[in-house]
Amino acid sequence: MNLTVIDHPLARHYLTVLRDQETAPEEFRNAARRLTYSLVMEATRRVPLEKSRIQSPLEETAGYELGSVAAVAVLRAGLGMLDAVLDLIPEVKVGFAGVQRNEETAEPMEYYAKMPNLEDASVLILEPMLATGGSLSWAVTKTKESGARDVTCLCVVTAPEGVKRMYEDHPDTQIVAAALDRELNDQYYIVPGLGDMGDRLFGTF
Ligand code: URA
Repeated sequence: MNLTVIDHPLARHYLTVLRDQETAPEEFRNAARRLTYSLVMEATRRVPLEKSRIQSPLEETAGYELGSVAAVAVLRAGLGMLDAVLDLIPEVKVGFAGVQRNEETAEPMEYYAKMPNLEDASVLILEPMLATGGSLSWAVTKTKESGARDVTCLCVVTAPEGVKRMYEDHPDTQIVAAALDRELNDQYYIVPGLGDMGDRLFGTF
């Protein structure tokens, strides 16, 4: 498994907006979407291209067509990353993975899963907060059950504990993130982190 932490100035700027406790939900959603553009650019670096020939206004030239891409949004915080993916890759097939954290054990409990056929697609899993790794590991397993072979996880903030778990459970996946933070606290929140991503996106405090 490979973790790539992007250090683009725009990504750092929008991550700062997300971390700031004064950021209200509308601005938070905008910053999450804008940050996700840079995650998608990095995560799709190795998506296969098919060569084509096209006619420019001046002459025939080489072109490239993007291979099949699918995204799986882990509910509900992953929804905050979906618009950027749909905007950059309008043909993307989208699945949803509903998982709830057991507040005592922090282990994932499935409540919804709807996957497209993922067999020949480059799969992007949208899970902004990689904390214990329970939800993301579960989501990767679900995508593999639907045929996924090429999986890249897009995270806003990761914690060492979650990264370690992903190394153990899914050594064949990639992670692209905007930050690797210090640790989890005793309530399994990432610190310094940005709080509860779902609550901050949707104003459910
Ligand atoms: N989920 C969140 O939304 N925030 C955290 O810090 C950890 C998990």
